[in-house]
Amino acid sequence: MKLIVATDKTGGIAKGGKIPWSCPEDMDFFKTMTIGNEVIMGGNTFNTFKNPLPFRKNYILTQSNELIYSGIVNTKDVIEFASFERLFKSGEFSCSWVIGGGQVYAASLPYITEAYVSVVKGDYECDLFFPKFPPTFIEVSQIKLSENCVVHKYLNWTYLAEPHKIKLIEKIQSVLSVQPLKSASL
Ligand SMILES: NC(=O)c1ccc[n+]([C@@H]2O[C@H](COP(=O)([O-])OP(=O)(O)OC[C@H]3O[C@@H](n4cnc5c(N)ncnc54)[C@H](OP(=O)(O)O)[C@@H]3O)[C@@H](O)[C@H]2O)c1
Repeated sequence: MKLIVATDKTGGIAKGGKIPWSCPEDMDFFKTMTIGNEVIMGGNTFNTFKNPLPFRKNYILTQSNELIYSGIVNTKDVIEFASFERLFKSGEFSCSWVIGGGQVYAASLPYITEAYVSVVKGDYECDLFFPKFPPTFIEVSQIKLSENCVVHKYLNWTYLAEPHKIKLIEKIQSVLSVQPLKSASL
């Protein structure tokens, strides 16, 4: 399961129930990554969209058995209400994207294999923040979308296969210019 989020420089993701910045290049990035796939979100996030995201299968995480979210009309084919256990613990959703918000990001982190964090310049005085990544998340690359926005890609070490772990260690060593240890000559 993958995760995608946009934050300001403080890690803020929303203010007053909305994302307080406009960043079209990041919206394009979000569409490129998620279109054609399954997206998983909490009810509060769904309510900010009003409609399901097009060209994606929308899953709304809920602890309730009732379809209580506003603005749902004829969406049975694109929306499914799902439990935490089914979405996160089944292993069935390994290619899906977790798209927020705060509660759902926090609950999903143990199951996330890779994460894309777009950091938008500036402090938007948010009142909701992205949770801290566990130490198993390692930043592996950055994509500069514009002067205003850089995407940071993280992998979760827990889910990496052995050959990928070795490659990642080699990459980190080359970035750090780590030399093999030599015995000291006196
Ligand atoms: N910057 C970004 O990239 C970004 C992305 C997405 C959203 N956002 C912002 O995030 C805000 C919404 O975040 P939020 O934290 O308030 O709400 P949220 O995570 O979108 O939704 C919370 C709801 O999800 C369900 N839920 C959460 N954890 C669950 C679990 N473990 N099992 C089952 N259901 C669970 C519950 O629904 P029930 O009450 O029905 O059980 C809960 O009320 C909005 O302001 C939105 O704009 C920002």
